[in-house]
Amino acid sequence: MITSDIKIIRERLLEGDVIGLPTETVYGLAANVFNSSAVKRIFETKQRPTTNPLIVHVASINQARALVKKFPEKALLLAKEFWPGPMTLILPKHQTVSDLVTANHTRVAIRIPSHPLTLQLLNLLDFPLVAPSANPYNRISPTTAEHVESYFPSIYTLDGGPCQSGVESTILGFEDDEVVLLRHGAIPIEAIEGVVGRILNRTHSSQEGALPGQHKKHYSPNCDLIVTYEPLFMLSAVKNKRVAIVWFQTIQIESIDVEVNKVLSPSGDLAEAAQHIFSVLHELDQMGIDMIIVERLPAHGLGLTVNDRLDRAAAK
Ligand code: TXA
Ligand code: MG
Repeated sequence: MITSDIKIIRERLLEGDVIGLPTETVYGLAANVFNSSAVKRIFETKQRPTTNPLIVHVASINQARALVKKFPEKALLLAKEFWPGPMTLILPKHQTVSDLVTANHTRVAIRIPSHPLTLQLLNLLDFPLVAPSANPYNRISPTTAEHVESYFPSIYTLDGGPCQSGVESTILGFEDDEVVLLRHGAIPIEAIEGVVGRILNRTHSSQEGALPGQHKKHYSPNCDLIVTYEPLFMLSAVKNKRVAIVWFQTIQIESIDVEVNKVLSPSGDLAEAAQHIFSVLHELDQMGIDMIIVERLPAHGLGLTVNDRLDRAAAK
């Protein structure tokens, strides 16, 4: 059920329900961080293993401070620069945050989202909200209320329109005095380094040593997906399939034998491409295409974030 009535959403949360929530990145599946049965229901609804921890969404830096034992200096610098916004910080948790939320990790993931409706909602509540992306485990992240509705028709979703960033937050950890990139996201690495200098990149952990959520397979459509710098070359090897090609900037040949051509950003803007990538995948998935061939984006800025999502969507 989609609603634009923030009061209904607030009441549902006070009752201990799980609701769909707009953020500037993707829609979240939200519940009261301090209500363990509601938190359990998030894991069940998403069919997410309880070993994979949840991000906590707060209204202010002060509310974040109450959830952590320590706020490292560089973390504070970044929070002041990018919050509210699409950056998640992994900080040593205070005991008020349950082990269920952090999947027994000693650290908790926190961010202040910048979507105005969600900030308004957080300010109306006296508890933070856990909110993983509102997709079943390993499926494509939702960037509209309708996407959430199609996954979870029986929950209330607050309609905040299409998400502005369209990809999840950038996740950062802190080790000694170093800042560590754990997930490429809506704030490009270059912008983070502009504030704290060079950071370590740990987004490519091996499957064994991977943090929860760094698993190779994720964000998957139902059909096959290939990511390549050469879509036409890949197409030439495909026979008897309904194929869609997703181009970054321009369709290379109009008359080729494909079911659909999509363009992520006619002006070649990486932020626009990031904004559209999940919604294009949702649309193609619903059309019953057999194979999606996506042109790999330039490997810098948000191109790295989109390529990361595509590589995981392509993983078997
Ligand atoms: O933009 C976003 O971050 C969206 C919106 C809704 O805020 N949320 C989101 O949540 O992407 P989720 O659960 O789909 O992805 C969060 C990632 C997961 O891979 C999880 O494993 C990781 O963050 N994570 C959460 N808590 C963690 C922790 N304490 N330590 C390490 N990783 C953590
Ligand atoms: Mg997710």
